[in-house]
Amino acid sequence: MKKLSILAATVLVSGQLFAAEPAHSSAELQADMKKQEEALATIQKGLLYGNKDMVKDGVNSLKAANKVATLKDSLKTYLPDNKKAFEKQAIKAGEGVNKNADLLLASLNENKYGESFATYGKLLNDCNTCHLVVRGWK
Ligand code: HEC
Repeated sequence: MKKLSILAATVLVSGQLFAAEPAHSSAELQADMKKQEEALATIQKGLLYGNKDMVKDGVNSLKAANKVATLKDSLKTYLPDNKKAFEKQAIKAGEGVNKNADLLLASLNENKYGESFATYGKLLNDCNTCHLVVRGWK
């Protein structure tokens, strides 16, 4: 059994995450993150299949699931002790998710495809940038 430094109350057992004790709203957070992951998959599918309505649905779900405003108050609790200094950067990445979701859709609707695809890449980078800090990979 290997202890994760990410969430004090989370332990890694054979590759799966279990909450040993409920950490600060971690179940809710994980549910929102799962929704974001699914929304991102919908966006990607919409782009790959050339279905703008699907991209739009994905963007709407993503924005509904991205609780960066709520996370602002509690993000510190998810950061490893030596990574608290990166809190602002992580929050900025969270705000980037919503901004880039809007930009992606806007450029797609203007048939600026290259720009739209590049923005999708930036959006994914926003997710990973916060995780980088949260997971102590940085
Ligand atoms: C502001 C910080 C932040 C941003 C931005 C962010 N996440 Fe997360 N995410 C977290 C935290 C905190 C966790 C929980 C700790 C962990 O899993 O390492 C997490 C965990 C996850 C998980 C794993 C959940 C689980 O049940 O183990 C997924 C999937 C995920 N995020 C998807 C996304 C996607 C997709 C995006 C972008 C659209 C995103 N996240 C953006 C903070 C963030």
